[in-house]
Amino acid sequence: MAATTMERGYHNTSSSYVLPNDAIEQDRLNAQADAIVAMIGGAPFLAYNRHLANASKAVDIGCGTGVATIQLAALLPSANVVGVDITPVPAPALAAAPPNLQWETGNILDVDMEKQTDSLSRGALAPNTISYFFGCMLFLGINDWHKYFQVANLMLHDQGIIEHQDLDWKFYRVGTDECLSDNWKWYARLMEAVKVAGLSEISGSNAASLMETAGLKVIEVRKFEFSFVPSAKTPNSQAMGRYVQAKLMLNYPELMRKLLGSLNIAHDEVEQLIRDALRDLSSEEGIHQKYTVTIAKKA
Ligand SMILES: C[S@@+](CC[C@H](N)C(=O)[O-])C[C@H]1O[C@@H](n2cnc3c(N)ncnc32)[C@H](O)[C@@H]1O
Repeated sequence: MAATTMERGYHNTSSSYVLPNDAIEQDRLNAQADAIVAMIGGAPFLAYNRHLANASKAVDIGCGTGVATIQLAALLPSANVVGVDITPVPAPALAAAPPNLQWETGNILDVDMEKQTDSLSRGALAPNTISYFFGCMLFLGINDWHKYFQVANLMLHDQGIIEHQDLDWKFYRVGTDECLSDNWKWYARLMEAVKVAGLSEISGSNAASLMETAGLKVIEVRKFEFSFVPSAKTPNSQAMGRYVQAKLMLNYPELMRKLLGSLNIAHDEVEQLIRDALRDLSSEEGIHQKYTVTIAKKA
């Protein structure tokens, strides 16, 4: 309970990103990264074994605590690896970074597509230089996915690889495509707020189509169950269910308050919507959101 009521620290940025960036959030992101590795099969990246042998430069967009960026730099010791985020990575990441890893502060959506006069394009992310463009769990940060994939296409070199891992918002029954959230009033209100914020309800499943529109060639799409409650039916998602119950659910009330704040709803109604959400999201084993990994190439 304490984590939902105590004063939290937030990013000092013009970006629309609503989550905090304090020590509690860094601990949550590291736990989430471990659960993602278990869910998708033992590594944070699906492209690694098949596509990155000759990578010379790799970037992790929205790198957060840098937990995956550091693993990427270790896996690709002869590549130059760059972690980019709207605020600087925390001190432990700075201390743990191997020599081939550098950190950049910036908003990926600030890239100037026409003249590339922005600091990322003129510096570490120069056009046509990136072998591997990685982004994971950016659904609360990116309010222009069309531009995001255009930026990726601009920065990748010929035959360069993009890997995008992200969530859709809807909730499903374990092992099925049976949608549970279509009947939830709180969910409908939250999606209104998501739209007002310019965010997408389908940041995972819509990536392939937006990549193709941006000129990238999709080569692989895989879906996973991002469980909110562990289930024996989906063993690889059990760590995710445990993490959600232990850490993510504590953040849900504040996340909902921030998003719903744009809708001008009375305080008591917001609090009721939050109570309904917390009840529904833990209502059955294996309840999950769809997590999509999409890999494409600049052809
Ligand atoms: C949910 S966290 C995920 C962090 C990391 N990718 C992971 O999976 O552990 C999203 C991160 O993206 C960053 N972010 C959000 N919008 C961004 C933007 N427009 N440009 C760069 N970073 C952004 C946030 O600051 C935050 O650290």
